[in-house]
Amino acid sequence: MRISALVLAVLVLAATPAAAVVGGREAADQPWVVALYDANGNFYCGGALIAADKVLTAAHCTVERTAFGTHERRAGDIRVVAGRRDLGRKDGREARVSIVWRHPDFRSAAQGDDIATLTLVEKLPYRPVPLGEAGPGDVGTVLGWGRTAELAPPSPTLREVDLPVLDDQACGRVLEGFRPDAMLCAGYPDGGRDACEGDSGGPLTVRGALVGIVSYGKGCARAGLPGAYTRVSRYRDRI
Ligand code: ARG
Repeated sequence: MRISALVLAVLVLAATPAAAVVGGREAADQPWVVALYDANGNFYCGGALIAADKVLTAAHCTVERTAFGTHERRAGDIRVVAGRRDLGRKDGREARVSIVWRHPDFRSAAQGDDIATLTLVEKLPYRPVPLGEAGPGDVGTVLGWGRTAELAPPSPTLREVDLPVLDDQACGRVLEGFRPDAMLCAGYPDGGRDACEGDSGGPLTVRGALVGIVSYGKGCARAGLPGAYTRVSRYRDRI
């Protein structure tokens, strides 16, 4: 049993391209891309610094699902790390959170409104990312420390991948409950490149502006299944 699990792990790792986010590359230093840690010190989501003391992330990164049910993460239980490309190092800054704002209509990622802000107890010395808008024809860049394949562990170093933003009809055909006003989707018809678990809450950027928040997907990088992102421009007046 132990042996076969080990063999399986080796096979899976061997079969996984050393890439990702899935299918991506090592990202340059981008101190405004933040990692979220839980109270036990475990990395679990991404986010983006949109002001010196404000992080934009996914609403589902502010609730915790366990075998016993769902509970809201308290501000005191979330730690923000900025300016640290390699999570195995100690550089950059760690900041505590004073206020968690979660979109009041959020129920699940697939139903949308998957957006939240974390107000930090202090201002961080990094340039925040501006907010922007994207549409079909744009190529966006997703950044994160998420899994590099469905069965791979999260990446210790920040990675990025470029993905075409699809038109709303295409998204609606494959993503059940897709809300064009409030969501974006991005990916290649053949798959191979995508965000994955652990990238949630992290940024999708176009022309250096934040246009989407990694929200959900079925598996990762599967053919015909683009990833879904919260459409940031829709929530501009609330964040
Ligand atoms: N829900 C995931 C998370 O919590 C992110 C899913 C993104 N998946 C995708 N295939 N684009 O990290």
